[in-house]
Amino acid sequence: MVILETKHLSFSYPDGTLALDNISVVIEKGKKIAFVGRNGSGKSTLFLSMNGTHRPKKGEILFHGKPMKYDSKSLREIRKNIGIVFQNSDDQIFAPTIYQDVAFGPTNLGYSKDKVEDIVNKTLEYVGLTHLKDKPPHHLSGGQKKRVAIAGIVAMDPEVIILDEPLANLDPVGADEVMDLLNELNYFGKTIIISTHDVNLAYGWADYVFLMNEHKVISEGTPEAIFMHDDNLKAAYLRRPVTLEIYEEIKRRGLVKPQCCPRDIPDLVHSLRSQQLLWAKVPSEVKEGDYINLGILYGDYAPESGYEAANCKVLHVHEDGLAIVEMDRKPYRAGSIGIYDTEYYSKDELLDIIDRDEIECIGAMGKRSKILAEGDEIYLHITAGVVDRSILNSLAGQRCLILTNGGMVGHALERIKDYMQKSGINIPVTVVNPNQES
Ligand SMILES: Nc1ncnc2c1ncn2[C@@H]1O[C@H](COP(=O)(O)OP(=O)(O)O)[C@@H](O)[C@H]1O
Ligand SMILES: [Mg+2]
Repeated sequence: MVILETKHLSFSYPDGTLALDNISVVIEKGKKIAFVGRNGSGKSTLFLSMNGTHRPKKGEILFHGKPMKYDSKSLREIRKNIGIVFQNSDDQIFAPTIYQDVAFGPTNLGYSKDKVEDIVNKTLEYVGLTHLKDKPPHHLSGGQKKRVAIAGIVAMDPEVIILDEPLANLDPVGADEVMDLLNELNYFGKTIIISTHDVNLAYGWADYVFLMNEHKVISEGTPEAIFMHDDNLKAAYLRRPVTLEIYEEIKRRGLVKPQCCPRDIPDLVHSLRSQQLLWAKVPSEVKEGDYINLGILYGDYAPESGYEAANCKVLHVHEDGLAIVEMDRKPYRAGSIGIYDTEYYSKDELLDIIDRDEIECIGAMGKRSKILAEGDEIYLHITAGVVDRSILNSLAGQRCLILTNGGMVGHALERIKDYMQKSGINIPVTVVNPNQES
């Protein structure tokens, strides 16, 4: 279903600078959309047009199929439903406290005091800023400010959230937290539109990409379609995403399966063709015809370990203890992933599970889960890219636990199942809270 559309949209600034030249784009509801282009290509201007701030010189914008109107009542309606988070948080945040800042939007929508309070408290908890709600925003870190700005928009419950360069000037942790939040909002049905010149971000994250250059959209398509084609990238003065660059290099060496376009590290790992025959150093008691376990990663003899090990048949043993072995194609044994829903958080229960299931790797996804774990001094091995890293670690034989809550539980389960389906490797995965039903 189409939610937002521009038709032959052109815009010039009052000084005569042409900023948008005949832009026609169609945005599908519920998708993750990236506009990618170098500085000056027109991304910010397009976004300000999409929420009614700039009025087009030519062409039109349609929201739910209806042309945008520019009287103040229509504009209020548009801005309630199409929220925009500016590149620079200081342009967005102005109230004396974080609470007041987030309350600004819902108050302006004319909600009762009780309703505003309820919305603001829920939103602040959602973005993990409850503990800072009475602080003045200018004391915050870049990542925290960005989350306040996003909270101010989320509090109005818009259908579309547009973020102009959402990761600009954020450190890696702040950036991961913002992306976690955007994924969660999208999982709950929001259409998310971002601009960026970071091809790695756009390639790994977006469902659909528009490439911009010189005030025009020069191509559009799935991330694979856009980023596999150097012509596209050259025309937009952009580089190929690193994952694809590595993939192309190992493909040239004949080391990958004939499939296309890994978008993330688990995909990339899975695209590697497994070796069939390899040399391994084996103890003297090993004879030809024996089955032995080899560590997947190192090719070393691994008699004790079921983890990260593969069955191999010994074809030929040399006198010096080196043998030629053939990989058995049975899928090797993986570790496991447990998902702990922190909606039902109890420190004692969590420690029990970590102990009982001999958990070796704990990751937390979402601000709420990180705060709970850190408050209880539970060491987090992974705080970013949590699902993908848990998949990789479980493939290497570790028992992993993901702490998360709400819809992100389902999101993690889907991502892991999706990986299992694509790779044919079974990873035992469960939601582990025993007390959840009670
Ligand atoms: N306020 C402004 N007045 C005049 N020209 C502007 C203004 N803002 C942006 N521009 C120009 O419009 C074009 C598009 O800019 P912008 O939308 O900011 O691109 P991007 O966000 O992709 O960097 C550029 O040529 C830029 O110099
Ligand atoms: Mg910009």
